[in-house]
Amino acid sequence: MSLYEVIMTRRSVRNFDSREIPEHVIESLLDAANNSPSGGNIQPLSVIVVREPEARKELAEIVGSQPWVGNAPLSMVFCLDFYRLKRWATVFNTDFKGEQAFSHFLIAYADLMCSAQSVVLLAEERGLGSVYIGTIQSNMDRAREYFGIPQYVLPMMVLSIGYPKSVPKNVPKLEKEAMVHREKYRVDSDEDITRAFENKYGSLEERMENYFERTFVEAVEADKQQSERWVETVKEEMKRLEIKSNAEFLFKLRYPAEDMVKMNEGLFRSFKNAGFDFS
Ligand SMILES: Cc1cc2nc3c(=O)[nH]c(=O)nc-3n(C[C@H](O)[C@H](O)[C@H](O)COP(=O)(O)O)c2cc1C
Repeated sequence: MSLYEVIMTRRSVRNFDSREIPEHVIESLLDAANNSPSGGNIQPLSVIVVREPEARKELAEIVGSQPWVGNAPLSMVFCLDFYRLKRWATVFNTDFKGEQAFSHFLIAYADLMCSAQSVVLLAEERGLGSVYIGTIQSNMDRAREYFGIPQYVLPMMVLSIGYPKSVPKNVPKLEKEAMVHREKYRVDSDEDITRAFENKYGSLEERMENYFERTFVEAVEADKQQSERWVETVKEEMKRLEIKSNAEFLFKLRYPAEDMVKMNEGLFRSFKNAGFDFS
């Protein structure tokens, strides 16, 4: 398969085989993580390799009971790491203040995602599947405690990896031209924007099961892997909130605007607990 085909056929996988991943494959994924681009090449990144069943179970809880995290034979916790750089700077009587410099932080987070995406693509090419788990950001304090993570280090992303048992088929994307702007930014009309999202998500009127397969595959997969009733609960919430459009589904139910803003408090607290201060 060409790299283009790998990229175009990749899907987030949440249903993993229990088959172990050979050591040499894991090492190649870690090589890819380490050989990724890095702003100024300072590499403010650490990756914690999680394979032990007990740790996988704990990680699945830390990220908000996502069963695929416990089921995947391998997870990597991508940590934004200023600790190593600060220690090194101190040894040579100099200062590194990444924990106070927002610019260092932004670039370090970009580095982290470049590294993770290298792993995603190599994993795909090796016949593995993977899924990003961003919800670790809501529980960074607990993750830091469990993994013994020191000050100035934030566990900001997880990749769960394994051989796929099944791969989602109906994940919709915007049509390319809605996303691409050629030479200058094109300000679309409300109609163009509405059409672009209609084309992406389809109508809410269709059978709910089909709708969730496209728009909330996590809920469908979670129902298959554990006995909670995500889909039913979401359906009930849709009725209660009188959700009538894709936009309302996303921003009233899945990511309610006010709740998302309120999450700042917890995030900023975790940053502070890890010694970060951008004020
Ligand atoms: C930053 C980031 C965070 C994500 N967090 C989660 C997560 O916590 N749980 C999950 O099941 N999927 C998570 N995903 C996967 C997305 O749901 C997935 O990429 C999206 O539905 C599009 O599907 P695709 O990856 O197959 O194109 C995350 C993806 C990204 C890029």
